[in-house]
Amino acid sequence: MDAARQRRLQAETLKYAARGDYNAMAFWADRFLEYGFTYRAVGDRGKSEAANAKDYTSALALVADFITDQLDLATHARIVDLGVGTGAHLRMLHALGYHNLVGVDITPTFRCELTAALGNGFSFRQADIGTDVCMPAHTDVILLTDVLQHLVHPAKFRFCLERNVHEALYGGGVVIFTERFENVAYSYYEVMREIDVYHSLLAPTDILMQATPYRDKFITAWRL
Ligand SMILES: C[S@@+](CC[C@H](N)C(=O)[O-])C[C@H]1O[C@@H](n2cnc3c(N)ncnc32)[C@H](O)[C@@H]1O
Repeated sequence: MDAARQRRLQAETLKYAARGDYNAMAFWADRFLEYGFTYRAVGDRGKSEAANAKDYTSALALVADFITDQLDLATHARIVDLGVGTGAHLRMLHALGYHNLVGVDITPTFRCELTAALGNGFSFRQADIGTDVCMPAHTDVILLTDVLQHLVHPAKFRFCLERNVHEALYGGGVVIFTERFENVAYSYYEVMREIDVYHSLLAPTDILMQATPYRDKFITAWRL
C-alpha cells in the first residue's frame, strides 16, 4: 500500500471506525459527496473513472447474461438491489426491460438520480441492511454486489443474511452476491468471509452460477 493511501486510511479510521464496526452512513455519504454519481464513488477509489467504467462494463455484461440467458428471468420479476449505490446493475436491467426494481441503501444521496434513471418501475428505500428488515414482499431476485464485505460487524452481517436474504427468498428466490471467499479483514470497512459462512446462513438448494471472477472479487448465484 502506498504512503498516501495508508495516511488516508489512518485518518478515516479515526473518523469512522468504532468498536469493531464503522459509521457506514457517514462514510458512504461523505464518499458519494466527494465523487458524485460516478463509478469511482462505488468502485475502486484508487483507479481512474475510465478504469472503473471498464471494470464495470464486463461485470455488468456477466450479470446481464446470467439473468437473461441462464435464469431466463421474466421482465416483471421483482429485483431488489441491496446497497444499490449508483444503481449500475439496476440501470443495466432497466435497459433490458426489467421494470419491477427496488434499490435499498444506507444513504439517500443518489435517490433522485436513481429515480430519474429508472422511472416509474423503481422505488428507493433508505435502510441499514444490517439492522433493518427492509425487504418488499414477493421478491424474486436479490443483488448484493460489492456490499457484504462492508457489513463488518458479525451481528450485522448475520442479520442481513438471515432477515433480509434468507427470509425473503426462502422457497425459490435467487441471491446474486460477490465475495472474495477468504477470511481476511482488509480495513476498518472491508471484511471478507469464507464460503462456508454463506452456506450455513443461506442453506442454498441450488448453485445456479459457480463463483466466477467479477471485478476484484467473485460473483455467484444461489437459489434458496
Ligand atoms: C461498494 S458500493 C457498491 C454499490 C453497488 N452495489 C455496485 O455494485 O455498484 C457499497 C454500497 O453499499 C451501501 N451500503 C454499505 N453499507 C450498507 C448498509 N449497512 N446498509 C445499506 N447499504 C449499505 C453503500 O452506501 C454503497 O452504496
